Amino acid sequence: MKLADYKATLSFSNGKAPIEMPVYNGTIGPDVVDIRKLYGQTGMFTYDPGFLSTAACQSAITYIDGDKGELLYRGYPIEQLATQCDFMETCHLLLYGELPNAQKKKDFTHLVTHHTMVHEQMQFFLRGFRRDAHPMAVLTGLIGGLSAFYHDSTDINNPEHREISAIRLIAKLPTLVSMAYKYSIGQPFLYPKNDLSYSGNFLRMMFGNPCEDYVVNPVLERAMDRIFVLHADHEQNASTSTVRLCGSSGTNPFAAIAAGVACLWGPAHGGANEACLNMLQELQAAGGVAKVGEFMTQVKDKNSTVKLMGFGHRVYKNYDPRAKLMQETCDEVLKELGLENDPLFKLAKALEKIALEDDYFVTKKLYPNVDFYSGIVQRAIGIPVNMFTGIFALARTVGWIAQLNEMISDPEYKIGRPRQLFTGAVKRDVPPIAKR
Ligand code: SDX
Repeated sequence: MKLADYKATLSFSNGKAPIEMPVYNGTIGPDVVDIRKLYGQTGMFTYDPGFLSTAACQSAITYIDGDKGELLYRGYPIEQLATQCDFMETCHLLLYGELPNAQKKKDFTHLVTHHTMVHEQMQFFLRGFRRDAHPMAVLTGLIGGLSAFYHDSTDINNPEHREISAIRLIAKLPTLVSMAYKYSIGQPFLYPKNDLSYSGNFLRMMFGNPCEDYVVNPVLERAMDRIFVLHADHEQNASTSTVRLCGSSGTNPFAAIAAGVACLWGPAHGGANEACLNMLQELQAAGGVAKVGEFMTQVKDKNSTVKLMGFGHRVYKNYDPRAKLMQETCDEVLKELGLENDPLFKLAKALEKIALEDDYFVTKKLYPNVDFYSGIVQRAIGIPVNMFTGIFALARTVGWIAQLNEMISDPEYKIGRPRQLFTGAVKRDVPPIAKR
């Protein structure tokens, strides 16, 4: 970051001495006022619950222009990456800052491929769960448990340990996600096959079985890969901020990623794709497009908690570019599977059209986000609704690791420890129980 050629001055109307604060600019996006000395100089904190106006770090990984609806991974527009690159190239880009050439891509893919197996003991973790446990509960446990198998490489301050942990997590997430799915349906786990692509391997571990060969459908393989690319990273969203804060204590990378999985599970965040598909199915069951008007009235009613899941975003105040690409992927997959008339896809498009013309959504700048169409395409591929967020976690693992590694390799980083505005009881003495 670069010192700007101007400063910020904070003055007080109660005669308290004003203070000057440095301003920094990045390469693109808003400048920042450096308030790190504010408490020392004024004895005051800033107040920003939800971090609407707070930059928690500097980062060179992903940039979002919410007004333009623009998303860049290391400077490359998501529209170009999603159509010209695959997930392995995207992982290399996010982790190391550059797209790989053919040889580097081959080497990176070989490295990831040869770390896809998990320790044989991992399968016994699953037996402790009920078969109908939510896959995100299982994944949080499995990923946290991974750290128990790598005592030789969990020092987050050791660059080699960070590197091998990154490869292990990217490589093993598809295996663990498919194990969580197979466990829930009582089918045997499949080992990864090293002659398949990352996405093809995942589809086979999800939908293959030991009794017959599984043939990867190239259209579904490409769609799965694109879903991974679109979900790979997204600046300092809630789960990434969780991973950074968790990792700032010096804990091991597996524990930090497990914390990210737990945060992503929430319906306001990564759980929105599951919530969105449930919303579409309920609406379809209640009458489909004919019921959209009544549903929208509920969504717009201040007193109702009903939200149009898959719509709205803290940063995008325009169309989420990932939603457009996801809709195209939806079209491709539904055509390939002869599901062009999928009622849920038609209902989603009808909902989107109505919302984008409705004053409530227009004034609040609520547009479809990545989760609005991702559920429909995953359901068409055969992924059960309760697995959607697990797929999101699989894809976002590379972004979480890239962000965690960026933080740890920043010599200025410290353990994160926010302060508060205290509004509780002032100091008082404990009364004897007889007097309470
Ligand atoms: C992801 O941060 C990221 O980058 C996340 C993510 C990533 O890749 O990591 O992009 C992934 O989490 C996408 C978002 C998925 N969540 C949903 O689709 C759930 C539905 N959306 C909302 O819950 C909401 O839009 C959020 C949580 C996404 C954003 O919330 P904000 O920024 O805190 O905005 P807000 O809730 O204050 O909404 C502003 C107004 C409110 O009305 P008023 O109080 O001003 O009257 O818009 C309304 C909200 O009630 N609103 C909605 C709405 N989303 C916001 N009303 C109806 N339906 C919605 N979906």
